[in-house]
Amino acid sequence: MLVPLKDIMQDAVRRRYAVGAFNTVNLEVTLAIVRAAVNLRSPVIVQISEKTIKYAELKPIADVIRTVSRHVGGDVPVALHFDHGRSFAAVRECVDAGFSSVHIDASEQPLENNIAATHQAVDYAHRAGVWVQGELGVIFGKEGLTKLRGVAAARQYLTDPAGVAEYLRATGVDTLAVSVGTLHGAFRGRERLDLPRISAIAKVAKVPLVLHGGSGVAPVQIRAAVRRGIRIINVDTELRIAFTQSLRRTLGKQRGQYDLRTYLGPATLAVQRVVEGKLKVFGSAGRAVSRSR
Ligand code: 13P
Repeated sequence: MLVPLKDIMQDAVRRRYAVGAFNTVNLEVTLAIVRAAVNLRSPVIVQISEKTIKYAELKPIADVIRTVSRHVGGDVPVALHFDHGRSFAAVRECVDAGFSSVHIDASEQPLENNIAATHQAVDYAHRAGVWVQGELGVIFGKEGLTKLRGVAAARQYLTDPAGVAEYLRATGVDTLAVSVGTLHGAFRGRERLDLPRISAIAKVAKVPLVLHGGSGVAPVQIRAAVRRGIRIINVDTELRIAFTQSLRRTLGKQRGQYDLRTYLGPATLAVQRVVEGKLKVFGSAGRAVSRSR
């Protein structure tokens, strides 16, 4: 069932586990995420990006997530979130479309502009009772890293714990994305989390902390991050890889096959298995409290 993110996070904060925020682009990936959550009785966040809105259109994809949450999710809590909104217009559209949480990502702008853009989003979203995720420090992906020429250069963009309290006060955000060593993309265990930095940020932050770039990070690192205060973990690339690898395998084996279901089915299941693995590592499995009376 679709619930506001606020409801999910209250329990995660109280019982100190992290909730997975998984990116979807279509019906199949949405089914995979929600089925995994149901199987493991875990709360979950389903999120879309601006690129997905261009691909699938906002209202259709939002409705897919809603209807899958309702008809497949049963009483397992699912929250709808907008990931990496780069403009106020995009954030406003998602607030108006009924999302319970939106991310305004102005992190690559100078601090003052980041605060101003984030404050504007908060002002609008809060009037509709919608949560806002801000981002302090920059989380790079492959393209950003090439620009920066290497992992070492990216370290100067990690979140500075000294600036966190002021950023939270000035913006009023409800959750905070932090840059603590992950990158967008799956780098298979090469991403090293700055654990002392997470602890230092958690000490001053009164809001749930969000770890972006969850793909490819070793489970032992993830568990340590959750112990130190990470409460939401974003995962995208590993789902895409699972889906695509399965498609390639099935299509390669069944060259004369034109029934979409014969290759979309296994690909959906492959994504579901990846999500199930993550829910176990994040500590959210089994936390969906029954709401039926
Ligand atoms: P990955 O693609 O590295 O899993 O990152 C996803 C993410 O952070 C989406 O905001």
